[in-house]
Formats: sequence, C-alpha cells, structure tokens
Amino acid sequence: MKIIMLGAPGAGKGTQAKKLAAKYDIPHISTGDIFRANIKNGTELGQKAKVYMDQGLLVPDELVVDLVVDRFKNPDCEKGYVLDGFPRTIPQAKALDEALTKNGDSIEYAINVEVPDSNIISRMAGRRACVNCGATYHLEHIPPKKENECDVCGKGLILRDDDKPETVEKRLNVYHEQTQPLIDYYQGKGVLFEVDGTKDMDEVFTDIVNLVEV
Ligand code: AP5
Ligand code: MG
Ligand code: ZN
Repeated sequence: MKIIMLGAPGAGKGTQAKKLAAKYDIPHISTGDIFRANIKNGTELGQKAKVYMDQGLLVPDELVVDLVVDRFKNPDCEKGYVLDGFPRTIPQAKALDEALTKNGDSIEYAINVEVPDSNIISRMAGRRACVNCGATYHLEHIPPKKENECDVCGKGLILRDDDKPETVEKRLNVYHEQTQPLIDYYQGKGVLFEVDGTKDMDEVFTDIVNLVEV
C-alpha cells in the first residue's frame, strides 16, 4: 500500500501516518522527522536543513528528493509505505512519479487531512514531542499520562523550534503557496481522498481506514 499524507502543518499527518504504519505494517517515512534526526545528530544535512526549517521555509527540493528515493531501497518498503510531509512541491511530486514509474509503481492514495488555518495555531502551540522517540502529544487533546513525560519511553517532551506562533504563520503561508497545489495534482491522477481532520483523531483514523479498505 503506497500512501501520501497531504495537509497543512499541524493537520495531523504525522499522527495518522503513525497509526496507518502500525496497522498495515508498513514504514512511516516523514521527511520532517528525518531532518530533525539529522539536526539532533549534527550531520551536514541537518545543519543545512535547520537554516530553512527554523524560518518556516521549505528545505530545497534537491536536498529532499534523493533522500526519499534512497529510502525506498530499504527492504521494509517492499509492501509499501506511508509518506508524511513528502512530496511538498510540484517538482517533488514529479520526481516521485518518475522514480516510481521506473519500477512500474504508482501512488494509490493521496489523503488530504483538511483542517482550517484557524484551528492550526492552537494545535501547534499545544503540541509536545518526545526528545527521544518522536511520539507526539497535545496538552489538551492528547495529553501524556504524566506531565512532560513520554508515555512510550519516559523521556522528556519539548515544543518544536518551528512551533512558535510567528513561525507557524509563515509555515501556513508556505503551505498555501507551494504545497496546496498538490491537491489538484493528485486529483488529476484520480487518487485524491479527503478526510475531515477537525474530528477526534480516532474518528479521522476510521475515516481513512474506510477509504483504503474499499
Ligand atoms: P514536518 O515535520 O513535515 O512538519 P509539517 O508539515 O509542518 O507538519 P507537522 O509535523 O507540524 O504537523 P502534522 O500534520 O504532522 O501534525 P501532527 O500529527 O503532529 O516539516 C517540518 C519542516 O521540515 C518544514 O517546515 C520544512 O522546512 C522541512 N521539510 C519537511 N519535509 C520537507 C519536504 N518534503 N520538502 C521541503 N522541506 C521539508 O499534529 C499536530 C498536533 O495536533 C499534535 O499535537 C497532535 O497531537 C494534535 N492532533 C493531531 N490530530 C488531532 C485531532 N484529530 N484532534 C486534535 N488534535 C490533534
Ligand atoms: Mg508531522
Ligand atoms: Zn518517547
């Protein structure tokens, strides 16, 4: 099963992608998580990416595409994958198509998680992420069992550097300009599906499962 998660920053792509990956036993490939891991490990890629991420801008396409295409070579991708945060521009989508076509493959589901901008700012301000395993929480909607402690691994929780309200606004603008056009792109290919991302996260998940299990 080859799935792309589309949606604004904070729409819940990561939350739903993790659940899909667990249910269908396919890898969750998040370019944002890959960049954050590189930043944490102080790699050259991480240093380059951080400059853009901290400003709420997209990392240049050439730093992203090969990274993802290389990731597909890992044997865990044989049954498919759920892509979260990639592609994010039309050139990235075209590069992905090209790489897939070479192997006679294609994307089966592009799932757009719809959440209006007005909901996004509060979601981001309340988001906390585990410094260790990447699990995410929301102070009001999905609180950790113990304050500031990850349910999964017990390590501390932090606010992401790019979740400050002024950066979130910038990310939303970038989303509307550069990523929203992908909705039409995948609609044109007949693989676009929409879900209402303002519902409770378990309801959103049920809606997605109902789409992919038809
Ligand atoms: P990335 O990490 O992909 O961030 P993003 O797209 O901005 O999306 P988020 O991860 O912020 O949100 P999400 O949709 O995953 O929401 P989540 O599930 O966490 O990218 C970060 C940066 O990296 C980019 O800005 C860019 O610089 C760079 N980058 C990455 N990929 C790139 C690419 N391909 N090309 C170029 N640059 C790239 O949910 C949000 C919050 O809401 C959480 O607290 C969650 O608990 C809560 N929540 C989730 N669902 C619900 C619900 N149904 N109800 C209530 N609360 C909910
Ligand atoms: Mg995410
Ligand atoms: Zn953790």
